[in-house]
Amino acid sequence: MEEVRLNLAERSYSILIGEGLLASIGSILQERQIDGRILVITNPTVARWYREPLIHSLQSAGFSVQVAEVPDGESYKSLEQASFLYDTLIDGAYDRKSLLIALGGGVIGDLTGFVAATYMRGVRFIQIPTTLLAQVDSSIGGKVAVNHPKGKNLIGAFYQPSLVITDVTTLKTLPEAEFNSGMAEVIKHGFILDENYLRLIAGEYELIHNLDPEILSFVVSGSCRIKSEVVEQDEKESGLRAILNFGHTIGHAIEAVTNYTYYKHGEGVALGMLAASQIAARTGRLKEADLPKNLLKICQKFKLPTKLPGLAIQEILEAIKLDKKVESAKVRWVLPEKVGIMKITSEVPAEVITEVLVEMGGLR
Ligand SMILES: NC(=O)c1ccc[n+]([C@@H]2O[C@H](COP(=O)([O-])OP(=O)(O)OC[C@H]3O[C@@H](n4cnc5c(N)ncnc54)[C@H](O)[C@@H]3O)[C@@H](O)[C@H]2O)c1
Repeated sequence: MEEVRLNLAERSYSILIGEGLLASIGSILQERQIDGRILVITNPTVARWYREPLIHSLQSAGFSVQVAEVPDGESYKSLEQASFLYDTLIDGAYDRKSLLIALGGGVIGDLTGFVAATYMRGVRFIQIPTTLLAQVDSSIGGKVAVNHPKGKNLIGAFYQPSLVITDVTTLKTLPEAEFNSGMAEVIKHGFILDENYLRLIAGEYELIHNLDPEILSFVVSGSCRIKSEVVEQDEKESGLRAILNFGHTIGHAIEAVTNYTYYKHGEGVALGMLAASQIAARTGRLKEADLPKNLLKICQKFKLPTKLPGLAIQEILEAIKLDKKVESAKVRWVLPEKVGIMKITSEVPAEVITEVLVEMGGLR
């Protein structure tokens, strides 16, 4: 088992990564003296595979456990579902010492974290991420939120979990497209901070694709280390943490214009990273000429989209503007200079964005 420590003074926690950890969760909590009545929050898709093993492990270690299931899907990362969970907690007389466990992907993790941050002014929660995206990204760093009809993640907080337990074996039941979507975040971590990590991922494509548990533990723990390093320096995104948004400006816009139904989050990020690398090249910022080509190659390897057929460029530009308005800030482009060095700027001419999107297949 790998252990990555995220150091944030009294909010520090461990991220445990390994094969078959789900069966030992009860004893892991005992060893770490984590107690309290437990409410596990999950959805029917994940519950089908992992509800029973988790409950069995917790009950065998003497924990009192109840499970709440919310429907599967991004649209259920909502205040309505949060309210259903508050009702469950209140009806079950859960007090401030209770413990919530998020068992699922980023949707379940963000929703559970939001409820944990707000129920009785904050109760502890543990993340058990079961998608690759959640294992390498959303379960780490304490951004918790629900969506609002006017935009994604508009209602939320920074609220760190007490522990993250990642069982890479859960990736075996994950649909391939979801796995590849998570790979976009893995690739992103390599490009923003760690050339060696990136090289290893590109070289171990076969093992990763075949879900070899050892290589998966390496990939997940590597990404967790990179993300933790950034979060430790800038927990609330007042500076450095923004580099984690490489690929997100155009990525979010593409997700928005396709109503969050066509592209998965990581697919949007892949397209956004490709666009950002071309923007960096066209605005003279790029100091490593091969970077866009290498990024394209690795995205293709993991079957991530690299073209924007049929998407109207004007709509993408509008969505970028709207995102800016919602955040009442300037658009923050994260542009690569070279692998490991990102620059943040709001100065990108609209013609350059248009040229890049045309080249990627967008419609004028
Ligand atoms: N908090 C953060 O820092 C952060 C970062 C990135 C993304 N996010 C959020 O994460 C969400 C996306 O997360 P996601 O990509 O994990 O999507 P998701 O949670 O919707 O999971 C994708 C699908 O996989 C299913 N699933 C999960 N684990 C499975 C398994 N082991 N086997 C089979 N099926 C499984 C889910 O039920 C769902 O249908 C978005 O809401 C996004 O805003 C948050």
